[in-house]
Amino acid sequence: MKVLLLGANGQLGRSFIKSGGLARYGEVMFATRDGLLNGTIPVKVADLAHPLAVIELLECTKPDLIINAAAYTAVDQAEDEESLATLINGTALDTIGRWAAPHGSLVVHYSTDYVFDGERSVPYAVDAPTAPINAYGRSKLLGEHLLQASGAAQLIFRTAWVYSAHGHNFLRSMLRLGRERRELRIVNDQFGTPTTTGLIVDATLTALDAWFKTPMGQRETLTGTYHVVSSGMTTWHDFATLIFQKASSAGLLPVAPKVKAIGTKDFPTRAKRPAWTVLDNSSFSQRFDFVLPDWKVGLNDVINELYVEANGSSC
Ligand SMILES: NC(=O)c1ccc[n+]([C@@H]2O[C@H](COP(=O)([O-])OP(=O)(O)OC[C@H]3O[C@@H](n4cnc5c(N)ncnc54)[C@H](OP(=O)(O)O)[C@@H]3O)[C@@H](O)[C@H]2O)c1
Repeated sequence: MKVLLLGANGQLGRSFIKSGGLARYGEVMFATRDGLLNGTIPVKVADLAHPLAVIELLECTKPDLIINAAAYTAVDQAEDEESLATLINGTALDTIGRWAAPHGSLVVHYSTDYVFDGERSVPYAVDAPTAPINAYGRSKLLGEHLLQASGAAQLIFRTAWVYSAHGHNFLRSMLRLGRERRELRIVNDQFGTPTTTGLIVDATLTALDAWFKTPMGQRETLTGTYHVVSSGMTTWHDFATLIFQKASSAGLLPVAPKVKAIGTKDFPTRAKRPAWTVLDNSSFSQRFDFVLPDWKVGLNDVINELYVEANGSSC
């Protein structure tokens, strides 16, 4: 079997490569926007903004399994580049899905909590009404709809507040700012669930194991959309506070800075953020018999990974 990983340079893509887990399904091919992995190793080129080139790549590689970890993720910038975000996060899924359907290939795709409006205060079920309030959310919702409409075998995993020990994310920004400043002001009225790429990879591999163990004719019982997020919830302020506590105890920061709670209104951003996007992850856990642990477990894992990188052994 042939596996194609799109977006191999992103946080999630890199975690897939680090885990090595996709190799159990067959030959794994990596693709990035510019055809280079980590800026040095030549791999396949897949720029999702160019549908014809994507089709050409699919025709030439003929993957049985396509993992789409590529996305336009610059939430604020998407307000000014909605057509580009829509092309990459939306239209590209039509291209991929329409190729995959007649070829019998499975598409694994990732979406976001930002497909919801954040007006609730009980966890969003998978089939709760979607109503994105920013351009990024609209583009990702379009991608879900186009992939669903393509008729391809598919697993769509909505996730949230994604971070890891590498790449661009909130934890790494906090650690950088924590070294530079004594006090930080962080929003305390947006609620969600930080989720590590390590957990998303483990969950995806578990779902794929189940998929390939299931007889062909019965796989449609697994196909669909799931919430793959950690359990529990927090605010950006409380997440930052715990990051600083754990990082300073592990010696990754000399001193934990003070974290002052502010409101969204005190921190204006180009894109509006939904205020409350806790996702009900029970259907994934039940379907695939996989525990999605509390978000603090993931934070411990990432701090430990950073500690090992800095010190060479576990803390
Ligand atoms: N990050 C979050 O907080 C978050 C939250 C909810 C859901 N998600 C979803 O989770 C998935 C993984 O996100 P992530 O955090 O790993 O994102 P990421 O670190 O921003 O990685 C995205 C990757 O997509 C690539 N990309 C951007 N435009 C592309 C294009 N035109 N063609 C091909 N590749 C392109 C980027 O390439 P370059 O390296 O060349 O820029 C980057 O490597 C995405 O579907 C995202 O929407 C993320």
